[in-house]
Amino acid sequence: MDQYLQIFENNKAWVKSKLSADEHFFEKLASDQKPHFLYIGCSDSRVPANVIMGLDEGEVFVHRNIANLVVSTDNNINAVIQYAVEHLGIEHIIVCGHYGCGGIKAALHPTDMGQLNSWLQTLRDVYRIHQKELDEIIDPHKKFDRLVELNVIEQCVNIVKIDHVQRKWYKTGLPKIHAWVYDLHNGLLKELPVNLGEYFSSIRNIYDLKIED
Ligand code: CO
Repeated sequence: MDQYLQIFENNKAWVKSKLSADEHFFEKLASDQKPHFLYIGCSDSRVPANVIMGLDEGEVFVHRNIANLVVSTDNNINAVIQYAVEHLGIEHIIVCGHYGCGGIKAALHPTDMGQLNSWLQTLRDVYRIHQKELDEIIDPHKKFDRLVELNVIEQCVNIVKIDHVQRKWYKTGLPKIHAWVYDLHNGLLKELPVNLGEYFSSIRNIYDLKIED
């Protein structure tokens, strides 16, 4: 069967299996959503959010773009984060990068990629911020992996730069922000050993908006 038409067959089979396990499955799911996590990940087809976390429908609010970026002028991600934090009351935001990310690779090897140039510029900025550390890494694979990790950390910091996140973060310590990397070669997730509070403190004089309630 045509790969496209097969999707509707898959969908019917999925509906059938859900209803056979719980005949009220869709009624319950349609009534509300109360996800505990916001996942910001790469659009890469090999890194499906719910699947790698073993979470069901309704359990994770998801935003994906090329190389899991949090760009301050991106209305899309700003709306997602604000809705997640202020309306859904989500207390855990996860930024998940992945080794072997094509976006990161492109940023390491500058070439003209048209519309992608401005998107990848954010990654080149991450490279510039951490250029000393990265240029000391001789092994190109290790350098590539490290830029994947540093990008996740910088995107976590970009979340703390957002005004409404700061308001809540300083008052309640929430949302908790987590830096993850997914390994395509073994399917494992890992949390990066980074103290975001400490990192943000070191740059707080630049980004703290001193928001008063
Ligand atoms: Co990617």
